Amino acid sequence: MIIGNTTVETIRSPRFQRTRRLRTSPAIRDFVRENRLLPSDFIYPLFVVEGQSVRREIPSMPGQHQLSVDQLGAEVRELKGLGIPGVLLFGIPDVKDAEASGAWNPDGIVQRAVREIKRNDPDLLTITDVCACEYTDHGHCGVVINGAIDNDLTLPLLAGIAVSHAEAGADIVAPSDMMDGRVAAIREALDRSGYPMTPIMSYAAKYASAYYGPFREAAQSAPSFGDRRSHQMDPANAREALREIAIDLVEGADLIIVKPALSYLDILHAARAAFDVPLTAYNVSGEYAMIKAAAVNGWIDEQGLTLETLLSMKRAGADRIITYHAKEAAAWLGSA
Ligand code: PBG
Ligand code: ZN
Repeated sequence: MIIGNTTVETIRSPRFQRTRRLRTSPAIRDFVRENRLLPSDFIYPLFVVEGQSVRREIPSMPGQHQLSVDQLGAEVRELKGLGIPGVLLFGIPDVKDAEASGAWNPDGIVQRAVREIKRNDPDLLTITDVCACEYTDHGHCGVVINGAIDNDLTLPLLAGIAVSHAEAGADIVAPSDMMDGRVAAIREALDRSGYPMTPIMSYAAKYASAYYGPFREAAQSAPSFGDRRSHQMDPANAREALREIAIDLVEGADLIIVKPALSYLDILHAARAAFDVPLTAYNVSGEYAMIKAAAVNGWIDEQGLTLETLLSMKRAGADRIITYHAKEAAAWLGSA
């Protein structure tokens, strides 16, 4: 026998456990798998611009495009075919001003996009991002007075944006501004305006993150001065995220987003344990760009890395994932 006495003793010991038994074949591995990715887990972000026949690739987000409203029908059919249940809409207006007036215009870019999507497919879940930064000439998420965002003056603006999205037919409104009191202000305005059944999906734990860089290029929403640290959360803080989420739930949020996702899996995990509401991870632009950049260089296996990354978000506790990889991931899962 090659096996020495010591080894035989080892394998007979009650301490010796063969966990590999449950990894011997694809069928067994599948049988004991705790978490799975499905195309129905994904929400796909769309950047809608003015103009006709526009399909402009975003340089820092290869494979993602700014689309004009007339392109949305084809997009919706593709998503339907892949089994992706919803979109998150961002509008990029041609004209920006200090008041973000394009954001609540009934004929604004997002409002037209919502109507076009609903005309093509009333069942596709249409979620709208509620914030001012894509519509303000200074690129800040609210009303700026003397060089600083005025929280309380921003609340009616956000409420007005949310109501105009609901009027256009949005299924869910998703405030991403991180002003204090905005969920309460939006809930009250929706209720008063005849939309008591429109859910609010709050970016409750949203960090001031360098991972948003490519998005700000895509949405042309980088602040022209200063940064977003006076309202978005400090990446050093975890307990504070639970406080933010608790506050938004008290104010009337129906669903919660943690953002970014990859560097914040601990926050997702803690939020899952602490709250029994639907939890969404936002796999943000910088996370997508990192994978794409490495893939273009042939340094990583894009399919493997992407699916592993998205799965980690579900394992951490996310029910759903907003991701720019939605279409590719759904196709990979479908062919697996
Ligand atoms: C707007 C908004 C941002 C993102 C979503 N909504 C940018 C920001 O807060 O500066 C980032 C999304 C991404 O990076 O993919 N407030
Ligand atoms: Zn903003």
